[in-house]
Amino acid sequence: MQPVKIKDDIYWVGAVDWDIRNFHGYTTQRGVTYNAYLIIDEKITLIDTVKGQFCDEMIQRISQVVDPGEIDYIISNHVEMDHSGSLPKLMEIAQGATVITSPRGQQGLKAHYKKDWNFRAVNSGDTLNLGKRSINFVLTPMVHWPDNMVGYLAEDKILFSNDSFGQHLASSERFDDELPLQIVLQEAKKYYGNIVLPYGRQVAKALETVAGLDIEIIAPSHGVIWRSHIPEIVELYKKWSANETEDIAVIVYDTMWNSTEKIAYAIQAAFEAKGIATRMRNLKTNHISDIMTDVVTAKYICVGSPTLNNNMLPTVAAFLTYLKGLAPKNRKGLAFGSYGWGGQSVALVENVLRECGFDLFEQIKVEYIPDEGLLSEITDKLKGEIGA
Ligand code: FEO
Repeated sequence: MQPVKIKDDIYWVGAVDWDIRNFHGYTTQRGVTYNAYLIIDEKITLIDTVKGQFCDEMIQRISQVVDPGEIDYIISNHVEMDHSGSLPKLMEIAQGATVITSPRGQQGLKAHYKKDWNFRAVNSGDTLNLGKRSINFVLTPMVHWPDNMVGYLAEDKILFSNDSFGQHLASSERFDDELPLQIVLQEAKKYYGNIVLPYGRQVAKALETVAGLDIEIIAPSHGVIWRSHIPEIVELYKKWSANETEDIAVIVYDTMWNSTEKIAYAIQAAFEAKGIATRMRNLKTNHISDIMTDVVTAKYICVGSPTLNNNMLPTVAAFLTYLKGLAPKNRKGLAFGSYGWGGQSVALVENVLRECGFDLFEQIKVEYIPDEGLLSEITDKLKGEIGA
């Protein structure tokens, strides 16, 4: 459990959660890290803590650099407990420490832990002097909670970006150039799709604010630290936050007796005929949080369900609830499905896609089993709707 030196007198002292496979509903096949950073200056400063159960791991790492009882400042960039969960125990050790946080952070930490710690609230533009260094704060509300803020250490050109630019990726490597870049970017995309996607406007504003900063290192609160691929991840965040999409159709469905699946593949044939890449996502074999990775850049979102008990299948309802909450914009939707009688599912799916604000293709609704002729008609009609 070694601390990792990032620059002189600046260390990663977080924790690696190799075993977690579900982070509030988001599947984390590669595990998670909770990053905390220690700065040794005239004022000894810790930036964020770790999830409560990993507190001892963090304290052991800190202890190899400095006595944790000597910490002067604990900067809490975010109240969510994966970052603040170790505060109660740490504050018993670092009894003289001041908790530096946003006004909403102060409110949130008091509500979470019911402790009368020594707080200092900071706002955008405020500076905290550490001795040879100072940290400038920028509040970034709703990236991911109302209390979020980031800190910029000007002397070392490090942006402590909290949830922004994070990835759920457990590793012993700490930097972006120590792992295959495609894996890091894929996990950053999944993280964006499942955590940050609803807050595109706020992300764009935060990107504008930090655009003028000279940044050598972005140190997020999850995953590896960016030092070699900052232009790439910043460019991707600009694109994702603007809801810029690519010519990709994600076709999400569940099926009872394979009729809805047949329609899904007829839809795929139409997109492929038009040169549009497709992603077939059967909800029996794909987790909704993995599908959100596709949604980040997919222009077309097609969702299919047969009718069951006058409704859509529960798996499809779960996906649509998740999709609507994550609020992607500027997409085009298509509802489809088969039915025997009743046939309510397609309209119900379409209603949710409409509530998402998507433009819509004409819905595709088939009684019982579509034969080859009908499937060809579906493909041809949709090709016409997709256009040139
Ligand atoms: Fe990593 Fe919003 O907590």
